[in-house]
Amino acid sequence: MKITNHAKSLPLPPGDLGLPLIGMDKTFLQNPQHFREELYQKYGAISKTRLRGKNYIYLYGYEAVKFVLINEDKYFVNTSFPNSKKIFGNTNIGMLRGEEHKNRRQLLAKALKNKALNGYINTIQDLTQNYFTRWIQSEVSDLSAQLNYYSLDLFLKLLLGIDSGSQTEINNYLRTMGSGLIAIPLPLPWTKFGQALDRKKILFAEFETIINQRQQENNRGSDILGVLLEVQKQTGNNLSSRELAEQIVNLLLLGRNELTSALTSFLMLTIQYPSVLESLKIEQEQLDKSEPLSLEKLKKMVYLEQVIKEVLRQAPPVSGGLRQVIQDCSFQEWRIPQGWNVVYQITSVLEDPDIYEQPEKFNPERFNPINAEDKKKPFCYLPFGGGVRECIGKEFAFLVIKIFVSILINNYSWKFKQNQNLTINKFPVSRPASKVAICFSKQT
Ligand code: HEM
Repeated sequence: MKITNHAKSLPLPPGDLGLPLIGMDKTFLQNPQHFREELYQKYGAISKTRLRGKNYIYLYGYEAVKFVLINEDKYFVNTSFPNSKKIFGNTNIGMLRGEEHKNRRQLLAKALKNKALNGYINTIQDLTQNYFTRWIQSEVSDLSAQLNYYSLDLFLKLLLGIDSGSQTEINNYLRTMGSGLIAIPLPLPWTKFGQALDRKKILFAEFETIINQRQQENNRGSDILGVLLEVQKQTGNNLSSRELAEQIVNLLLLGRNELTSALTSFLMLTIQYPSVLESLKIEQEQLDKSEPLSLEKLKKMVYLEQVIKEVLRQAPPVSGGLRQVIQDCSFQEWRIPQGWNVVYQITSVLEDPDIYEQPEKFNPERFNPINAEDKKKPFCYLPFGGGVRECIGKEFAFLVIKIFVSILINNYSWKFKQNQNLTINKFPVSRPASKVAICFSKQT
């Protein structure tokens, strides 16, 4: 690996840019996962392609991925869908760079890490318990869809104090806004883009009303908005209600699907390993049942943490990251030109046999303090990305998953219908290859 001022004189990586107008769109759309795998098989760690009118460089494997993550803001910046700024706002963390990005992370971290998490435990417990009480009444016909409602309810309650958010129009608004992201940017009432802008207006107005009301109240509450308002009051660093609404929508967008994916994969993978379930149960039984859940108690669930890590390694909710190249650079004597996009592949690192012994095996013990395969070198445990843009919701995600699983293991059992396909597709987000039904029942 060499970074050089002569990057411009180096050749472009191997690959196929396809035909001038359509690039490689046709092959990509036929099977995106296969397209990605084939690039690696044909060309190795670095290759070029052209999709939807843009040039891309795909980077695979530990060294290539590390190259992107350590050169954030130097050669690469975060980028998103073409209409992202117009639909989701331009002050959210994904759009910020450099110092501004760092400051925004510091603010959000106050609400998503450490002590603040203690304030969310009861809400997560109550909401999870309510869902299980409902789920044991009849078969859940689509696990992912149910967990998606669960995650939305959880996020809306913890972000803004909204109850039963999945029963409101919010879900539809978010879906319409999402489908405007890559639409032709024509702001007319009947276009996807126009509809996305319309729903954005309604959603943001609703959220801003809640934020304004909360700002007037003496007791700001112990949810994420409450913590953010309190921190702002103390630091005098005031975001407008629109800016706060943008942060909140962004957290929802960046956390909800990932959480759904992680919980779905947890249920689908662990059921296949009875000895893992047995060990999880033993660990729960060893904990003091009379002690209420707290960060301290959750910390004692060491084996559970290992299992979650292994689930996320085998089925990472996010398969990779996208960046724009802001300065010509090179990797392995191949040129990475300014203006192109790079895609770094998380899965390629998590399945690397030089890091993870027998990576195809489901083995939570690889994360015990002796094996500690994830600590072999920096940037080798990547479900949450790495570097300055590492997931800021990591601790929060572990908190929710741990609470969910401890309630599950202590009170319920689950099974999937016979002969159901339990394959998990890993691209672009890990999710079941087909709809899966699940039955939860109360332990006797
Ligand atoms: C198991 C669950 C989760 C996984 C696997 C996950 C994964 C990731 C990954 C891989 C990135 C970096 C993407 C990149 O490099 O482009 C990221 C960023 C981010 N995640 Fe998560 N995430 C999860 C849950 C959450 C939750 C629950 C929240 C919010 C409460 C959240 C908020 C964010 C934010 C705000 C960023 C952007 C950070 C920045 O740009 O500085 N994530 N996440």
